[in-house]
Amino acid sequence: MVAQAPVPLLLLLLLSGLGSCRGAHPAGRPPHLVFVLADDLGWNDVGWHGSEIRTPNLDALGAGGVRLERYYTQPLCTPSRSQLLTGRYQIHTGLQHEIIWPCQPSCVPLDEKLLPELLKEAGYVTHMVGKWHLGMYKKECLPTRRGFDTYFGYLLGSEDYYSHERCVLIVSKNVTRCALDLRDGEEIADGFKNMYSANLFTERALDLIANHQIEKPLFLYFALQSVHDPLQVPEKYMEPYSFIKDEKRRKFAGMVSIMDEAVGNVTAALKRYGLWDNTVLIFSTDNGGQTLAGGNNWPLRGRKWSLWEGGVRGVGFVASPLLKQKGVESHDLVHISDWLPTLVKLAGGSTNGTKPLDGFDVWKTLSEGKLSPRKELLHNIDPIFIDSSPCVANRNSTLALNNSFSWEDSIFNTSIHAAIRHGKWKLLTGNPGCGHWFPPPSLFNESNTLSSDPPMKKLWLYDIVHDAEERKDVSEQYPGIVKKLLLRLQHYYKNSVPVFYPDDDPRCDPEASEAWGPWM
Ligand SMILES: *[C@@H]1O[C@H](CO)[C@@H](O)[C@H](O)[C@H]1NC(C)=O
Ligand SMILES: *[C@@H]1O[C@H](CO)[C@@H](O)[C@H](O)[C@H]1NC(C)=O
Ligand SMILES: *[C@@H]1O[C@H](CO)[C@@H](O)[C@H](O)[C@H]1NC(C)=O
Ligand SMILES: *[C@@H]1O[C@H](CO)[C@@H](O)[C@H](O)[C@H]1NC(C)=O
Ligand SMILES: *[C@@H]1O[C@H](CO)[C@@H](O)[C@H](O)[C@H]1NC(C)=O
Ligand SMILES: *[C@@H]1O[C@H](CO)[C@@H](O)[C@H](O)[C@H]1NC(C)=O
Ligand SMILES: *[C@@H]1O[C@H](CO)[C@@H](O)[C@H](O)[C@H]1NC(C)=O
Repeated sequence: MVAQAPVPLLLLLLLSGLGSCRGAHPAGRPPHLVFVLADDLGWNDVGWHGSEIRTPNLDALGAGGVRLERYYTQPLCTPSRSQLLTGRYQIHTGLQHEIIWPCQPSCVPLDEKLLPELLKEAGYVTHMVGKWHLGMYKKECLPTRRGFDTYFGYLLGSEDYYSHERCVLIVSKNVTRCALDLRDGEEIADGFKNMYSANLFTERALDLIANHQIEKPLFLYFALQSVHDPLQVPEKYMEPYSFIKDEKRRKFAGMVSIMDEAVGNVTAALKRYGLWDNTVLIFSTDNGGQTLAGGNNWPLRGRKWSLWEGGVRGVGFVASPLLKQKGVESHDLVHISDWLPTLVKLAGGSTNGTKPLDGFDVWKTLSEGKLSPRKELLHNIDPIFIDSSPCVANRNSTLALNNSFSWEDSIFNTSIHAAIRHGKWKLLTGNPGCGHWFPPPSLFNESNTLSSDPPMKKLWLYDIVHDAEERKDVSEQYPGIVKKLLLRLQHYYKNSVPVFYPDDDPRCDPEASEAWGPWM
């Protein structure tokens, strides 16, 4: 447990003072770090991947920096965010299963040291704007207690973009409660009704940038609500997309456009206030697109919630005048857990005090094109996975797996939802989640959409470098590779902590306080 009294806070301030005196950063002053995290933005939702959706600001930033074309996130919100801030796989934090739901008494374990804490120790001013989703059942879990000097945003997910309310069915009480989920620091922020969140959050980011004392290094974690459902956007952003017939996709396109504008505004502010020349800006999605809510990952297979490439291969880039190589497309393996060691190193800080990291410092890969230190990537192991969303109209997505015991099962239980990448190989087991290919509605063509996998199938091997669409399972041709990867999975599984997925606590009910927030 991390102590939370004023004393350690003082200590942190002291340490941060020392940090800024150290001045050991190779490039002179430590760079400002701006991390922009989009929500549910899919592979085929950005201009540079050929989408019908236009993202001129993102396109330009990526084109002037390093575009990450073999970059991986986790398939869901809480998992990706937890790995970003801890540098550690979910099998090491207990967060393997789904997300932290509003009434679960759970948060990222308090003995994990988070990225903002490490940057604060290195002398940074740390701000967060936007979506937390890493647990809030007690105050110790809040962003302001976990390394952020300031916080403005929401603690859960799926809010209304205008009212900032979230409706939740509290099962044990059989009541659906709608309540505000917006905070400034730890205080309920109730004066922002009818302000669309992309505008609201951009305004706050601009404010922080304008008031930043330039001689201090800045860390801004800008975790936009866009483009998660509900599908809501001011009308004018949809107008350029009247050619998109599918209404969900048309609204979603508008939401992507306003997000693109938000990033443009933040970048312009960094330039206007003189920070840009010493800034590293990272743009990343948190997971693949949700095809049920306007998102798209074509031509990749699957979607959010799944371990297919459409769920985990993320949109991302780095933009910075400090990059040695610019205007390049990186095909090196980079994962969302790599940002913690990478950014702490750039900051001249130390990862002393973290638990053993799963992430790698990839700065030289990004900046100089050196080979990535990452050779292997555990996508996840979730022994209690279920996929309850409809997979394709009229299809039952609850897979009944082949329960006859095979040689593979003597190494690793292949009924378990898991996937691992090593070099060019990717192995998936169990039910990886919805495994169809979802073309954007304009290209919809039933014949290249449905997977022809037998319904009981539970093991696949792909040469992902040559078959990114996961169309040709080669597990039968390469039993040796299958064996090697199953051994790796078993190694990770043996060293994982139990899943922590507690029952809902009815005391979460915001009836009295009228806002979602800590109840313990
Ligand atoms: C829950 O409440 C609804 C009405 O709000 C009622 O129809 C339903 O029967 C209730 N369910 C249970 C399990 O009590
Ligand atoms: C970006 O800035 C322009 C000009 O100030 C403003 O009209 C627009 O609303 C801003 N966009 C966002 C998403 O905040
Ligand atoms: C990290 O910890 C080790 C062992 O406690 C210590 O020797 C080293 O100086 C520390 N490094 C930094 C940068 O604080
Ligand atoms: C294998 O994993 C599945 C899914 O988690 C589980 O239901 C089953 O009991 C496991 N089998 C063995 C032998 O552990
Ligand atoms: C889907 O299949 C499962 C397992 O065979 C079954 O229990 C469930 O009722 C089915 N659901 C629907 C909606 O058909
Ligand atoms: C289940 O697996 C066994 C052993 O690998 C195999 O012989 C059998 O054909 C499979 N059954 C189905 C329905 O896929
Ligand atoms: C659908 O896709 C298949 C395979 O790519 C192609 O052969 C077929 O012509 C397409 N049909 C239509 C109507 O576009």
